[in-house]
Amino acid sequence: MAKEFAKVAVLVSGGGTNLQALIDAEKSGIIKSGKISLVISNKSDAYALERAKNAGIETAVVLKSDCGTKEEFENRIMELIDGHDIDFIVLAGFMVILSERFTSKYPKKIINVHPSLIPSFCGEGFYGLRVHEAALSYGVKVTGATVHFVNEIPDGGEIIMQKAVEIREGDTPETLQKYVMENCEWIILPRALEKVCADIIK
Ligand code: GAR
Repeated sequence: MAKEFAKVAVLVSGGGTNLQALIDAEKSGIIKSGKISLVISNKSDAYALERAKNAGIETAVVLKSDCGTKEEFENRIMELIDGHDIDFIVLAGFMVILSERFTSKYPKKIINVHPSLIPSFCGEGFYGLRVHEAALSYGVKVTGATVHFVNEIPDGGEIIMQKAVEIREGDTPETLQKYVMENCEWIILPRALEKVCADIIK
């Protein structure tokens, strides 16, 4: 029987503005085929947890320091995901590279938002502000964001959506990060999530 909506888990590490964009998009009806049902953070002080609580979404914290190994850390996340019957996983500012053991368990069931136009400024070591520092120091004139499926290659999975903006005279890594978030990430992440959820509940 076709499901009414896909149960979505969002993995976060920080401020959670992308999580907020997803919460808002669910409220406004942009996301109708998915329901954010669980937020998992690897940082206990992530503001994303407050955003989830304010929206009445269940939260969980899994700290690497409480787990002996990366394998155990990932096992705990997988137990939460499987225990909540999650259909789809979103990495929204989750600053951990997941192993192949993890990603191969959920093929085409994990997406990530990355703050550049992949294949530029991506892969291991490119995250958060560092991505924008790299774009500015290279001197590119256009940047943006990408939503892609997650596989065993960091930032290497199939691209679902991209959006570009022109870099402005005088942009700093901080101003560019905000500009890319507002004009690219917060727009394409909800749209991409709706698209993949609609596909899986068909
Ligand atoms: C976002 O810009 C996201 O694209 C980036 O971290 C920021 C998280 O912000 N993710 C990566 O760099 C992953 N490689 P948020 O916590 O406010 O959503």
